[in-house]
Amino acid sequence: MKLTAVVALSLTAGAAFAQAIPEAQVRRRAEGLLAKMTPEEKIGQLSQMFYGIIPGMKISDDIIRQGKIGSFLMITDPVLANRLQHVAVDESRLHIPLLYGFDVIHGFHTIFPVPLAMAASWDRELIERVQGLAAREASAVGVRWTFAPMVDIARDPRWGRIVEGAGEDPYLGSKVAAAQVRGFQGPYDGAADHVLACVKHFAGYGAADGGRDYDSSWVPEDRMWNVYLPPFHAAVEAGSASLMPAYMDLNGIPATANTFLLREVLRKAWKFQGFVVSDAFSVRDLQTHGFAATPEDAAFRAFTAGVDMDMGSMTYSKQLPALLQSGKISKTELDAAVLRLLEAKIRLGLFEHPYVDVSRVATVFDMASTREAAREAGARVAVLLRNEGNVLPLAKSIQRVAVIGPLGNTDDLLGSWTLANAHEHAVTVVDGIREKLGSNARVEAAPGVQIARRYPSFFDMLLGAKPEPKWDAERVKAEFSRAVDLARNSDAVVLALGEKQQMSGEAASRSSIDLPGEQEQLLEAVAAVGKPTVLVLINGRPLNLTGAAAHVPAIVEAWYPGVEGGNSIADVLFGDANPGGKLPVTFPRSTGQIPIYYAHNLTHQPDTSAGFTSRYWDEPSSPLYPFGYGLSYTQFAFSNLRVSAPSVARGGKITVSVDVENTGQRAGDEVVQLYIHQRSGSASRPVRELKGFERVPLAAGQKRTIEFALGAEERRYWNSAKHGWVEDASKFDVWAGGDSTASPHTTFDVSE
Ligand code: GLC
Repeated sequence: MKLTAVVALSLTAGAAFAQAIPEAQVRRRAEGLLAKMTPEEKIGQLSQMFYGIIPGMKISDDIIRQGKIGSFLMITDPVLANRLQHVAVDESRLHIPLLYGFDVIHGFHTIFPVPLAMAASWDRELIERVQGLAAREASAVGVRWTFAPMVDIARDPRWGRIVEGAGEDPYLGSKVAAAQVRGFQGPYDGAADHVLACVKHFAGYGAADGGRDYDSSWVPEDRMWNVYLPPFHAAVEAGSASLMPAYMDLNGIPATANTFLLREVLRKAWKFQGFVVSDAFSVRDLQTHGFAATPEDAAFRAFTAGVDMDMGSMTYSKQLPALLQSGKISKTELDAAVLRLLEAKIRLGLFEHPYVDVSRVATVFDMASTREAAREAGARVAVLLRNEGNVLPLAKSIQRVAVIGPLGNTDDLLGSWTLANAHEHAVTVVDGIREKLGSNARVEAAPGVQIARRYPSFFDMLLGAKPEPKWDAERVKAEFSRAVDLARNSDAVVLALGEKQQMSGEAASRSSIDLPGEQEQLLEAVAAVGKPTVLVLINGRPLNLTGAAAHVPAIVEAWYPGVEGGNSIADVLFGDANPGGKLPVTFPRSTGQIPIYYAHNLTHQPDTSAGFTSRYWDEPSSPLYPFGYGLSYTQFAFSNLRVSAPSVARGGKITVSVDVENTGQRAGDEVVQLYIHQRSGSASRPVRELKGFERVPLAAGQKRTIEFALGAEERRYWNSAKHGWVEDASKFDVWAGGDSTASPHTTFDVSE
């Protein structure tokens, strides 16, 4: 047997079942177990605790022995996972194994680009593959459930958690959500090297007032169904095993007890069969919302709304026994929730294989293929925003390169949600360029400025990270001039600017999207030196690049590209990778434009002089860079846009075709995007809506025809007057091209 086959076999040693267990068998086994359980043991299965990350929280093994806990999160040490599992399996009365959960958001040991970056690849296959690799690493240490994908639509870049999602568009967001669920879960729940997904945060979290994390979301009915819900529905349709409601209140009702979301939509409309876990302490915090009167009331309202498991607060553990005793919740309701958790554990094979093979962890972590995938992904998420005079790609013959900026030589490339201390240090921008150019070139770094959050990061505090000591006035001056001098004594300058990794993510919203600190001033001073200068952005949200675009000829949006980020960036800068990414979110000209997104309604006669429909008198109303935008080192041309028929009856399908050609001198990918607009009907509809995309590799000179199907599914929308889905008879505009401002246009009619 070839070595690879042997290695492959040993790597799937943790496999529980070669195929899914028949559902009838799952149900029978779960019901059989349920019948033996006491009320306390049942409630134990609905209780999850943080392990080891909450300061001062000590957890005794007795809580496991007594069956009072069914799940832990934040355990990433396989030895500890096995030890606690033995307590549950060997020493509890019914030997029910623990389910370990963790935030595997964009990698575990090997950190991949952040989710917003992965969305910028517009590459479903890559996204699925990467989340599968992350699942393999996480499951190797005993994590069998990830609190991902996060699918919250975000149209306010002040909101820190925009980095965790797929941007502003429900169609792109839905495809990304489904690809992530497939990647995490594999062919079936319990497949070897895979984990259960948990789609979150249900729903409308990204619409927080002012972009302030956790703040209220007020979302009208049609926007809920047409914008914020679709990615969740896509994840449910893709089979997500679980779901997590959001922290905030939606239209005044906390999501954790929101029966519209958890009953009307999730269970009734979507027939969701999985289980629901609250967000951290959010069952207890129903009191914080001024919604629940007491902890017992909080437990009652979350449980009866449909939250099966209480994450972290032990409110269920303390309050459900009395609620059951008093009959406020019934045995039937309790059993239904517990059954969902038992079935998930049975599908995972945890009863047959509760432990991990610690000896295989190093092998799984050290797989070169995972690092290679991280490097490939880091290049595929890059978006080329500007390349005046074809400054890029840079020549590999360059002798002296200056890497200037606070993000040129740091681990910030990893991005947020890299809590597992199992991850490796990033290949920095400096490392990557040095590796690329070899010893003939002199690659020097200078931070130039220091940037820091005004308030400490919640996660840095949790992890005990020590903030860098603040530079004194003398150091500030010295570093700035050192950076400018370095630029003067170099052949080319790579500016590495943006945000530190904890400047986006949870509890990391901002009141401005300007480059933090004095980076703009550094950029202008360095650009004024007059050397070929490229700006590489390391960030997890749209930033105000209006100034940068006025001073720097080339800009690459690299996002937080992950552990191989420096190599990925060097591959792009020196032409070994041709950037093909596209923006999954609009880049405003300034904070004042927020919210600004492409799928807006046409509310007034377009004023072409202002270049947009609504009017500011102090700056254009159009964004700096539109949704779907991204350049390449080659050029593409679109032609021959056509529909399969000039009209179609309601419910019918039409095919849209377009030719795309690589008219440049080198191979490259173009993301062909299809947009539609309904001209009239029972509601105003957005001027454009994405309804198809494909990332297409093309050799120089190659031309391909790309086809998209447009059926009722793509044309229907939720109408708030009719409180339901409608498909109007109307004339439709169709555009196809390389971004949301594409000009190739045609029309078709939908008749009664
Ligand atoms: C956090 C986040 C959620 C995460 C959970 C567990 O507060 O809101 O996304 O999965 O707690 O870490």
